[in-house]
Formats: sequence, C-alpha cells, structure tokens
Amino acid sequence: MARRTIVALPGDGIGAIVLEQALRVLNASGFDAEYIYGDIGWEFWRREGNPLPDRTIELIKKYKIALFGAITSKPNDEAKAELDPSLQDKGFTYSSPIVGLRQYFDLDICVRPCKSYKGNPLNFIRRGRGNTIEEPLIDVVIFRQNTECLYSGVEWTNPPDNVYQALLSHPKFRENFGKVPVGELSISTRIFTRKATMRILEAAFDYAKKYGYKSVTVCEKPNVVRETSGLMWKLAKEIQKNSYPEIRLLNTNIDAQMMWMTKNPEDYGVIVAGNMFGDIASDGFAGLIGGLGFACSAQFSSDGIAVFEPTHGSAPKYAGYEVPIVNPIAMIESACMMLDYLGEKKLCNVIRKAIASVIEEGRVRTYDMMKMQGKPEVIKNGAASTVEMADAIIAKLKN
Ligand code: NAI
Ligand code: MG
Repeated sequence: MARRTIVALPGDGIGAIVLEQALRVLNASGFDAEYIYGDIGWEFWRREGNPLPDRTIELIKKYKIALFGAITSKPNDEAKAELDPSLQDKGFTYSSPIVGLRQYFDLDICVRPCKSYKGNPLNFIRRGRGNTIEEPLIDVVIFRQNTECLYSGVEWTNPPDNVYQALLSHPKFRENFGKVPVGELSISTRIFTRKATMRILEAAFDYAKKYGYKSVTVCEKPNVVRETSGLMWKLAKEIQKNSYPEIRLLNTNIDAQMMWMTKNPEDYGVIVAGNMFGDIASDGFAGLIGGLGFACSAQFSSDGIAVFEPTHGSAPKYAGYEVPIVNPIAMIESACMMLDYLGEKKLCNVIRKAIASVIEEGRVRTYDMMKMQGKPEVIKNGAASTVEMADAIIAKLKN
C-alpha cells in the first residue's frame, strides 16, 4: 500500500495528548503514513481571531483525511475577553471550529460505534433472573445525521415580522401560540431534507450489510414529530424494501429507546437518527460501554472528506497535568475507524485486538476504568497514565 498522508489536528487540551498517543500506536502497528499537522482551536482564535484558519481548510481539502483530537469552546464574552489585545473590537466573533468543519465540508454522516470490550469494569450490567448479574455485550453503531435538524442554526427569539406572519399562517401556531407576544417567542427549526435523510439512511443500511448487522433501527419520533421524523421513517421503509430486504427495519421512539437501552441494549445493531436524537442515542449507548474514554467517531462528506475523532472534548482541567491521566482509547479507536475506511483491515484488527487484550487482562487501567476521580494522585494510586495505556496497547501489537 502506498504511503498515506493524513492531516493531524491536535486541537486543545487533552485533544493533543490523546492524538499523540494514537499516532504512536499507528506508527507501531506499521501503518505507513506521513502526518501533516494542521492548526485548529483556541490558540488560533486568540492569536488570529479564527479557530479554523484557512490554511487548515486547505490542508484538509488537499489530503481529505484528518485525525482530530478535540477543541475548547467558550461562551462569546469569554472568547472576546481572551482575544489578543491587537484584535479586540475588530469585529471577530467566535464560532466552534468543529461545527465549522462539519459545515464547510458538509460532513453530513456521523458514525459512532459503541461496542463493549470484555472485561471493561465500566461495562453496563443488569440484574437477571434469580438475582443474577448479567453483562450483555453491546455492539451498536449509531448513524447520526450531522448537519441538519435542530443544529441547523435557523432560530429566532422575537422573530422578524415575515417569519412571524408565516408562523401565524399555520393553524396550530395560531391556536396555541397566537396570543403570545412576539417578543416572548423563541423558535428553533428542525429541518430535514430528503437528500440528506436518504444519505444517512443509505449509509446506515450499507454499513449493516457490509458488517453483517441484522437490523437497522430508525430512532426518531414519527408519531409526534410527523413531518421530519415521519420523513425519515417513510424513506427508511422504501430503502429497506427496495434495496435491503434481508435487513430487518425497526422503529423506536427516542424516549422509549432510552428506556430499552438499559433493558435490552444487546438487541440493537445499527441505529439511525437525525442530528439531535442521534446525539442523544449515541451518548446514551456510549455510557453503557465505558463513557467518553471509549466513544469514537467518524464523519464523512459525500465528496470523500473524512474526519475521525473521539466524541469527548478537550477536558481542559486535565490538560496541564505533568503526567497525563486521560484514557486514549477513544482516540485510538477513532484511528482504527480511519484504518478501516482506508481499507487497512488487517492493521485495524491488530490494534483492536491489542486494545481488547489489554482491557481483558485488566492490569493496565486508566483512572476512569478504576472509577477514580480525575486527579494527579490517581497515578500513585495505581491508575495507568495515558502514555502507559498506549504503551500497553503497543506491546500487544506484536502478539
Ligand atoms: P469533555 O468531554 O472535555 O470532558 C468531560 C469529562 O469527561 C472530563 O472532565 C472527564 O471527566 C471525562 N473525560 C473526557 N475525555 C476523557 C478521556 N479521554 N478519558 C477519561 N475521561 C475523559 O467535555 P466538557 O468538559 O463538557 O468540555 C470541555 C471543553 O471541550 C469545552 O470547551 C467544550 O466546548 C469542548 N468540547 C469539544 C468537543 C470536540 O472537540 N469535539 C466535544 C465536546 C466538548
Ligand atoms: Mg454530544
């Protein structure tokens, strides 16, 4: 396989820490790649007034594949106050560079696998018959539409008159909100397009077929949110019938799914949802397999851009520790998703097997796996550091 070029985006806080360890693991696995570092995050906001500089966009455009750590976002007033004095009052406004990336490259498909590792002390357990304890192994992959829904940013408080008049033309609005003073109205629109909904559904079915999942579950609320959730459910039925008759199509409401999640999480395979409910479902399932230290993700556009990243943020309070303590597995798993995407199936499996074997042995565990509070002392209390966890995984690559 030819040498790859990957854009490495460390970002802020623990993003940079876990990315460095993931690159060590990739190198040790024999993955032949050159990493070109891209600037992103808080430092660039402060120094340049832009947390996602154009040069970074250009790098991603050119090389198409990025491994991303995490960034720090802060509220507008704090962002303004931390801007370099020479840039103050020049009209710069902060916006999240990860949301910016999604929008710029139209990374509309987000994939979040939640698979439990045997022996992970953070695995979900439940009480079975006769007071037994059951530990169902979960293997769920959530497909979250990543650009639309309530995250589209089409919102108003005190909507302008043309918007207000349009709303008044809807009988339900007139009836239920017609007497509310317009200045007291806050409205966020939930937008689904047919094209993007088709894309996320097709991606979900395609994945189920490719990786042998038996079912695709649409997790929305079509009985209440009839237009948008209804569109997704209707299209899902068409796609299943026409192209994937061998895959079972299920329909759950997001609220009920949150309940069933702890009752029978092992019964789900691929789950597909809009942006908001996909975000909720993926955090919910991630909690059953170990939480943020284990939750990985990938985002894809229709024209070949792919960004792989852990779901967690920059956890700034852990960033300055002399010995880093955070769990690098979510980042390393994200790197495995990249390998899989690149067709490096063998390397991907070798790393996943190494992670599984470190977890199952249970000798090396980061603080989260030991259920400790994150403090520098966790190291002297027996928790592995970020680097030690990566070392343990690297040591297993050879087996
Ligand atoms: P966070 O995910 O950074 O941290 C929340 C808590 O989760 C941490 O305090 C820690 O206890 C735990 N945690 C996170 N990653 C972990 C790991 N690898 N190993 C062990 N424990 C881990 O979320 P928070 O504190 O809400 O946000 C911090 C900053 O990150 C904010 O500025 C936020 O805007 C940003 N953020 C960025 C994201 C991204 O870059 N994609 C996503 C989420 C938040
Ligand atoms: Mg989230």
